[in-house]
Amino acid sequence: MTKVLLSLVFSLMTWWLATAADRNDKVGNIEDGISRGKYLVERVAMCVQCHTPRNHTGELLETRYLQGGPVPVSAPPNFRIDWAYKAPAIAGLPGYTIQDGIKLLTEGITPDGRVPKAPMPKFRLTRSDAEAVVTYLKSLS
Ligand code: HEC
Repeated sequence: MTKVLLSLVFSLMTWWLATAADRNDKVGNIEDGISRGKYLVERVAMCVQCHTPRNHTGELLETRYLQGGPVPVSAPPNFRIDWAYKAPAIAGLPGYTIQDGIKLLTEGITPDGRVPKAPMPKFRLTRSDAEAVVTYLKSLS
């Protein structure tokens, strides 16, 4: 009997530990998700560099943070690339559901099945990075 009880307690403990990471991911701490998303947007995926307009000295305009603007890099010469000259506003991810945003950042496809023009990178983020970025962008609406 004790043996059965012990093994039951042991399996419960193993299950609890094995699913801990999963639980943290799901319940998550929204604040943590947002600050990780902010870090990815500003320091890793660099969304902020293309999606925020600049002043005449080339500094990002804090007051227009992620409000869209002219693309800061020009198309490479002698290449026939379909190049976009404007990056849209992404604060609040207008027109995108959370699932749409995750799809764009993990597969590179828009909700209506397009691949955005260059220089928008065709992102292949992990699902958890994509979720963090989308959570952060949605928090800005
Ligand atoms: C090198 C510049 C650049 C970077 C970095 C960049 N983007 Fe973009 N993004 C663009 C441009 C340019 C477009 C417009 C593309 C077009 O017109 O087809 C765009 C389009 C988009 C769109 C709209 C797509 C559509 O047509 O529905 C979203 C959403 C978006 N970007 C999100 C992001 C996010 C999130 C990041 C960071 C994870 C990011 N972008 C990083 C340049 C960039």
